[in-house]
Amino acid sequence: MPIICDDAARTFTIHTRHTTYQMQVDRFGYLLHLYYGAKTEGTMDYLLDFCDRGTSGCPHDAGDERTYSLDFLPQEYPVMGTGDLRSPVLVVRDANGAYGCDLRYAGHEVRPGKYALRGLPAAYSDCPEDGAETLCVLLRDERLGLEVELLYGVLPEVDVVCRAAVIRNAGSRRRVVEKAPTACLDLLHGSFDLLSLHGRHGMEHVAERCEVGHRSYVVSSRRGSSSHQQNPFLALMDHDATETSGRCWAMEFVYSGGFKGECELTQYEQTRMQLGLDDEQLSYPLMPGEELVAPEVLMTYSGEGLGTLSDNLHRCVAKHVCRGYWRDRPRPVLINSWEAFGFDFDGDRLIGLATRAKQVGAELFVLDDGWFANRCDDCRSLGDWRVNEEKLGGTLSQLIAAINDVGLMFGIWVEPEMVNEDSDLYRAHPDWAFAIPGKAPVLARNQLVLDFSRPEVCDEVFSQLCAVLDQGPVDYVKWDYNRPIVDVFSRTAVDQGKVLYDFVLGVYSVLERLHERYPHMLIEGCAGGGGRFDAGMLYYTPQIWCSDNTDAIDRLAIQHGTSFAYPCSTVGAHVSACPNAMTRRTTPLHTRAVVAEAGTFGYELDLAELSSEELDAVAEQIRWHHRVEWLVRTGRYHRLSDPADAVCAWEQVARDGSAALVSGVVTGYEGYGVRRYVTPRGLVAGALYRDSQSGAVYPADALMSEGLRVPCENGDYQAFSILLERV
Ligand code: GLA
Repeated sequence: MPIICDDAARTFTIHTRHTTYQMQVDRFGYLLHLYYGAKTEGTMDYLLDFCDRGTSGCPHDAGDERTYSLDFLPQEYPVMGTGDLRSPVLVVRDANGAYGCDLRYAGHEVRPGKYALRGLPAAYSDCPEDGAETLCVLLRDERLGLEVELLYGVLPEVDVVCRAAVIRNAGSRRRVVEKAPTACLDLLHGSFDLLSLHGRHGMEHVAERCEVGHRSYVVSSRRGSSSHQQNPFLALMDHDATETSGRCWAMEFVYSGGFKGECELTQYEQTRMQLGLDDEQLSYPLMPGEELVAPEVLMTYSGEGLGTLSDNLHRCVAKHVCRGYWRDRPRPVLINSWEAFGFDFDGDRLIGLATRAKQVGAELFVLDDGWFANRCDDCRSLGDWRVNEEKLGGTLSQLIAAINDVGLMFGIWVEPEMVNEDSDLYRAHPDWAFAIPGKAPVLARNQLVLDFSRPEVCDEVFSQLCAVLDQGPVDYVKWDYNRPIVDVFSRTAVDQGKVLYDFVLGVYSVLERLHERYPHMLIEGCAGGGGRFDAGMLYYTPQIWCSDNTDAIDRLAIQHGTSFAYPCSTVGAHVSACPNAMTRRTTPLHTRAVVAEAGTFGYELDLAELSSEELDAVAEQIRWHHRVEWLVRTGRYHRLSDPADAVCAWEQVARDGSAALVSGVVTGYEGYGVRRYVTPRGLVAGALYRDSQSGAVYPADALMSEGLRVPCENGDYQAFSILLERV
């Protein structure tokens, strides 16, 4: 049983395959955090220290005990108002405007299986062998009539503990939730580094590691989506932790709106990390009987460095977050019209591209932006999801039939949450877009954001989408989102402080309805590239376009950073033309394919501009893809080096050790320079591996200690991809 409740010790212990998480109800009814680390038995309250804390606050019932202060004790769910003046995970304002809250233990329950959250994505378990269970601990503030259900969903096989919290007004007066991150982790001692993923449009998810000093570190998005700028993922680790050694803890938010992650080193050298909803624009009123669900945070621990930490998250996201028909299936190799044509196409050009794509072995044709209403540039028509038959030279049904006749599946781009002022939808319903009365709204990419906190807006957009998707067999949808939310004001909301949260729930509701109505349709998320790359979206869209930057060298850093939190099977990656549209850099076609192969793989370029040798090379790349994609999709991922190293290398190893794909790009070389080696990991000790191309056979132990010579000669950005098969 993964969850053990010990009434005598008043502890709740959660075991996963390799980890243990423990908490304890103390004599005052506070829920203390005792332990999160390597799997162990026992009661870890021996770690607690009660010594004189001088003038630190202590609860009134502790009397003059100067040795009891919640400002020092590790807690599961610290609230504002108990004397703990570190950053709290719950701030509630009562009807008098006061902030004091005091939650004490009020009961618990263990439930079979993994909890689900109404209206929100959450990790799930769909087979009993997972051994999933849920612990629900109820905390109550009698004075406020406030209850919080702390949910712990255990996925033992992937070493993940999922957390969520249901904050309920069980009293008789209005309360306002002003801050409600979901999860907190208090560590009693140690010195740590914090790893987070920062970036911008065109350069998302760049990993940054810094030492945690005596201050608060905040990683957040106030953009309405999880954002290009920061990703809702945090990892805390021992200073000397590496890919293969050291303790580390991660939190990953299963939510796609604004978020806030905090990490602070306190006066007593303790560390607190927390993650959840952004509080800057949150002010969520709860009338009697109402509740707010703090969205899920995935937590994992590894005592073997960052590689295992990422692998836990990868397995969790791939099996317990991504859903549906495409979860375990090879994703189709796609050709996307965007970097090929932009807005400049007609039906013949599209069919021409599809025909060439079929000849080289692509499987899915994606019609990107520009197919609807008067959409000849990015200034107009968002919101009018009406096929431009004149431009396509026929109906959408006819186009789909023609693409299917070529032998390809058909996919289409939409950006449902947006509207241009120059659109019929906006002219009919100007109040459907977010705008503050009397203030001209901030534009971005010439567009406004629709108020998806309103059900009628969601309904209308959903019907418009269905009207398009019902015109023929649409196998794939690219769901885009190209601007942040600035002017948060909903015409129908009484309290604007709940609008952003309700917006995200509205988006999820439309995605859920699409998921139900078109169960075989593959939806790829996108937000100007990776501006909403998070586990919340992955619940609906099992792959996400990782960046609008398709330059193979920039992608090394982007995909390296992304890999800390998300599996390769979720990372949209395509081969595009050179010089690259964004960076103007030229890289070999082979290198572009090696880098794209670390994701869902496809092409975005005009194949008519390739020579016949290049087309042959593309055909060969796609054949190679079919040979190795199972490894990329299901294997264990290893970061073998950093993007800044002379060779940036990575590896995917079959879970049974039967094969490994070792890939990399050489970015540093000199005349008569040093030879580079790459050292694979995770092979079966004592086994032999054959290089599938050269036929050379290597002992696994030598490969894993001395490595393999990088088979590249000098030249700009050479790449390699070696398939090792166990002999
Ligand atoms: C965003 C996407 C691109 C493309 C364009 C179309 O920028 O990230 O891939 O779909 O929109 O306008």
